[in-house]
Amino acid sequence: MLPYQAEAEAAIGKDLYRYLVGRAVDGGAEDANEAAFRRFCLVPRVLSDIRGVDLATTLFGVEIAAPVVVGAFAGDRLFHAEGLAPVARVCKRLRLPLVVSEETVTPLARITALHDRVLLQLRAAGPVERARSLVEHAADAGAVGIVLTVLAPAHPIEGLRPGGFDVGQALRDRGWTTIGSDRPGPMPLPAFPNWTARDISEVADSAKARGLHLVVKGVLHPGDVAACEQAGAGTLMVSNIGLRQSSRWLPAPLALPGMRAAASKGTAVLADGGIRHGSDVLIARLLGADAAVVSRPVLTALAGAGEKGVESYLSGLIDSLTAMTLWMGAGRIEDLRPDQLARADGTPL
Ligand code: FNR
Repeated sequence: MLPYQAEAEAAIGKDLYRYLVGRAVDGGAEDANEAAFRRFCLVPRVLSDIRGVDLATTLFGVEIAAPVVVGAFAGDRLFHAEGLAPVARVCKRLRLPLVVSEETVTPLARITALHDRVLLQLRAAGPVERARSLVEHAADAGAVGIVLTVLAPAHPIEGLRPGGFDVGQALRDRGWTTIGSDRPGPMPLPAFPNWTARDISEVADSAKARGLHLVVKGVLHPGDVAACEQAGAGTLMVSNIGLRQSSRWLPAPLALPGMRAAASKGTAVLADGGIRHGSDVLIARLLGADAAVVSRPVLTALAGAGEKGVESYLSGLIDSLTAMTLWMGAGRIEDLRPDQLARADGTPL
C-alpha cells in the first residue's frame, strides 16, 4: 500500500499511474520486493531505559538526519506541475538526501538551489564523455554525488515496459528536455550495455576530481562488488530497480547479507526497493545496509497530495523509524544486535 494511492491515480490518470506503480510482467502479481521484507521479523528488547533516539548519520560524506534516501524517478513534471521542487524542499527541511534522475525535467540547478544534499543519477550507457560532462554539470550545480545505474542501462524490452507507458514519448510530446539530454525526452538507450569497469573508473575519476561521491546502483551479485570498489565506488546500492525491467530479479533483503559480506568495511551499502515503513529500514539495516532508499511512496505522495503529501509521508517514515528503534531497545540504529532479526517462518538466520 502506497501513500495517497487513490489521490495519485485520480490526479495523473490511469496510464501514468500504471507506469508509476508498474513492474515488469514476467512475474506474479505480488510485489516481490515488499514480500521479501515480510520474510523477516524484528525482535524487540524491553526494559532498556532509553532516554532518546538519535538517527543522525553520515552518508556520501555529508551529515543527514536519518539513514533514509529519496530515490530517483524519471519524468518528474508529469507527476506534479512543479516537478521535483516540492520534494527538494521537503528533503531540505527534513535533512534527507535526494537522488535526481537524469530523466528529470526540472533543471538540476533549480533543485540544488533548494537543497544541499543532492546526487545526480546517470545511466551507465552511451558515450562516457556524456557521463563525464554530466559529472561536471552536477559539480557546478553543487551536487554532492553521482549515482551510476549499471543494471539494465540498455535494451528496454517493449512488452515488459511498466504499465505499457512510454515515458520518453510523453516527454517528447510535451517538448520537455531532461537533465541528461539537450533534445526533448530522455537520452535514447543503446541496444547493448557498452560499459565495463573501465568506464566506471573514468567517471569515478572525474567525480573524485570534483569532490563528488560515487554510488553504483543495481548490483546484486557479490562477485561484482570488488570490480565496483576497484573502479572507485564509495557506495553500492543493492537494487533490482523496483522490478521494473524484470520481476524475477533478487530483492534487496535477500541480496544484502552476501553483498555486505563481499564489500569492504569502508564501502557503504544501500538497500533499494520495497521500503515503505520504519520497520523496513531496520530490517534492511540488520541485513547489512547502512541506509535505505524510498521512491514510489514519495512519488504517489507527490502526485496525490503535492508538497504536503511528501512532507507527511517522509516525516511519518522518520517518526516510525524513531519509534521502532526505541521499541527495539536502542538509542541508535547502530546499537541494534544481529539477534534482533528473525525469519518470519521461525528458522534461524
Ligand atoms: C524509477 N526508478 C528509476 N531508477 C533510476 O535509476 N533512474 C530512473 O530514471 C528511474 N525512474 C523511475 C521512474 C519511476 C516512475 C519509478 C517508480 C522508479 C527506480 C527507482 O529509483 C527505485 O530503484 C525503484 O522504484 C525501487 O524503489 P521503490 O519504488 O520500491 O521505493
